[in-house]
Formats: sequence, structure tokens, C-alpha cells
Amino acid sequence: MDKLTIRDADVAGKRVFVRVDFNVPLANGQVTDDSRVRAAIPTIAALLQGGASVILASHLGRPKGKVQDGLRLRPVGQLLSQLLRRNVPVTGDALGVGTEDAVKRLRPGEVLMLENLRFHAEEEQNDPVFAAALASYADIYVNDAFGTAHRAHASTVGVPQILPAYAGLLMEREIEMLSKLLEAPVRPFAAILGGAKVSDKIGVIDHLLTKVDLLVLGGGMANTFLLAQGKAIGKSLAEPDRVEDARRILSSAANNGVRVVLPIDVIVAKEVTQGTEYKTLQAEKIPASWHIVDLGKESQDLMVEALSDAQTVFWNGPLGVFEIPSFAHGTKAVARMLAERADSGATVIVGGGDSVAAVTQQGLADRMTHISTGGGASLEFLEGRELPGVTILPDRPVPAKPKRKSRARVR
Ligand code: 3PG
Repeated sequence: MDKLTIRDADVAGKRVFVRVDFNVPLANGQVTDDSRVRAAIPTIAALLQGGASVILASHLGRPKGKVQDGLRLRPVGQLLSQLLRRNVPVTGDALGVGTEDAVKRLRPGEVLMLENLRFHAEEEQNDPVFAAALASYADIYVNDAFGTAHRAHASTVGVPQILPAYAGLLMEREIEMLSKLLEAPVRPFAAILGGAKVSDKIGVIDHLLTKVDLLVLGGGMANTFLLAQGKAIGKSLAEPDRVEDARRILSSAANNGVRVVLPIDVIVAKEVTQGTEYKTLQAEKIPASWHIVDLGKESQDLMVEALSDAQTVFWNGPLGVFEIPSFAHGTKAVARMLAERADSGATVIVGGGDSVAAVTQQGLADRMTHISTGGGASLEFLEGRELPGVTILPDRPVPAKPKRKSRARVR
């Protein structure tokens, strides 16, 4: 997948509309994880250096077409102003005369951020009039929002149908890194999948089963697999209607020669809350009133052993109830072990909110090969599905083969 990127564009003196994914977690009006904002900086900086004026556009949360003050992009604008060391004003609305004026006044080297696109229902509907209004702000379109590339919205699909379109540097790197997993992983190749629901991951597991040598499962989704193996899981989160899928996955893994590692011991708790009573049990017979909330030590050791020779690892999803610190130990231990694998030369790619948080909170991000900014988008990519926001971006033209000279006929 070789897309035209901003390196192919002449942006000097041009207005560039950059779709970024600044859908970041906020608490008390502050951005609590700035990784998506930092990840967009190389593209913004390159465009500014190239003499462009930059109009940033993102969604934040799911306001469903209504203005919600808690989902305004002002905190992101403030953070970006600090990171770029220049003022990044945020418009009051993505549309309107005030915004049109602000865009017209923009000079090369200046940045403006549009207010949350999803305050307009037309964004998610990929409304052509809304897309045309956004496109009217700029000469060139850049998509650096890999995390939103699985959405066919006005700003991801509508605008690039109107303006000359290019991939940003983050988009380029995400596609390159994730494509490597599917096309040419150095073996052994392991996938570690966690998170609450197996139903969200069935597609990606099915596809990865044809690619990986090892599948490590944890978190709430592993409970459905324990059920499929006939184990009692007490009150733990599970999806009984997916037990058949779990059985099918286990048997197709066996047929494909893929080793599956499931928790063998687990931390169980009376309630899924901080400060509750908890203990370690074998993952065989969990009493009826207890919940599985984390990996036990034996499970962690088993996973370390299974992954000890992996040369390529993809990890998505926490392996316990990560948001409760007492139940985040398994997830954090896996993050530390993956940093060591990466140090010893393995390719380690981490995607998804909580797994990325486990890595960044422990200061391990720089040691990983790649931290994907796309949770859902990276899973859909690895499921082998087309991402509309990627598909719409023009491919780099294949250079024409030089014509062979035809030999003069000798009579
Ligand atoms: C994400 O955080 O996964 C992306 O920003 C997409 O958000 P969405 O699931 O609300 O479309």
C-alpha cells in the first residue's frame, strides 16, 4: 500500500486541511493522554516548515450532532499551542462566517483548529454539502487521522473526494508498520489480545490465526474461552453467546498449528472495585460469587515463557481490569516484558487505549517499535478489512516500465 504523502506535495503558500485524530481522553478540562496529539506533530511541523497554513480538524467523543461543552477542542488547542510553541486558536464552530474569516486571515506558518466536527451530524453522515464547506477552506487535504480511518465520514472520505489528497507522516507510518505484520512478519509471530469483549475481536482473531504462531489471550474476553473449555468462571464478565465462536477458534488454532495461551491462574475479586477483597485462584473452578479481574503470577510467567522467542508481537487490549490499579499488574507486567523483547530486537507493535496507557504510564513507549494511535482502526486493518479513509487516498503512481527498443528487421 503505497500512498502519496505530504512529501509529494508542494504546500508552499497553500492552505492545507489536515484531518487529525485528537479524540483524546479528558479529565477536568485537561488532556490526560497526549500521545495522539504528539503523534500528529511531525506532519504539522513539516507542513508549516514547507510554508503552508494549516487548518486542523478532528472529532472528540460522540456528541451525535449536538454541541456539548465538555467535548470542545479548546483543551487540545491549548496543549498543541504548548507543544508547537505557537498559538493554535480553536474556532467556535467548524462552519460559519467567523470560521470562514479566520481561515481567510490565516498566513503561511499559522495554525487554526476547527471546533469538534461531530457537533454537526453531517460529519458522520458524510454529507456532501458539509464536506464541500470543509473543502472550501483549503487547497490541499491531508489525512493523518489513522485512528479514524475506519470511519467513512465527511472529513475522512468526503473532503478527499474534492481536494488533492495526501497521507500524513503518521498515517504513512501506521500503514507501513501494520502492513508488515500481515505481509512479512519475522517468525515466531505472536498476537496478544485482551479487553472486555470477545465479540469485538472475533474478526481479527480469525484473520490472525492464518498469520501468527502464538495467540495469547487475557482480559474479560479470555473468560469466554475458559467457558468454552468447560471451566467455571463465577460471576466473571463473559459472553455465553460467543462460546461456540471461542470453541471454533480454539479448534481452528489447533488445526493451523497455532499455540493458544490462556490464563492458568487468575486474581479474583468480590467486586470489580478498588479496595475490594481479592485473592489468587487456579482458573479452573472460580466460586460463583467471585469475578476474574487480572492474571495471576503463574499466567504471567507462562506468557513470558511463551513469548520469549517471539520476533514479532502485536498487542491490543488490557489483560485485566486495568483502570483499577490493584488489577493492572498483569497488563503492566506484559508491557514490561514486551519492552524487553523490543530491546532484544523483536518488532513490537502496541495498539488500543489501555494497552498503550500501560506502556506510556511505565515510561516504556520509546522502547516499543511502534505505538499505534488506532484502536478500532488497527484491529480492522489487521482483520484484512479496507479502511475507507485509507482507500480514498491516492496511490503513488507506478512508474511506467521503459519500453524495449524494437530491433530493426533485417531483410
Ligand atoms: C477512536 O478513538 O477509536 C477513534 O477516534 C474513532 O472514534 P469513534 O469510535 O468514536 O468513531
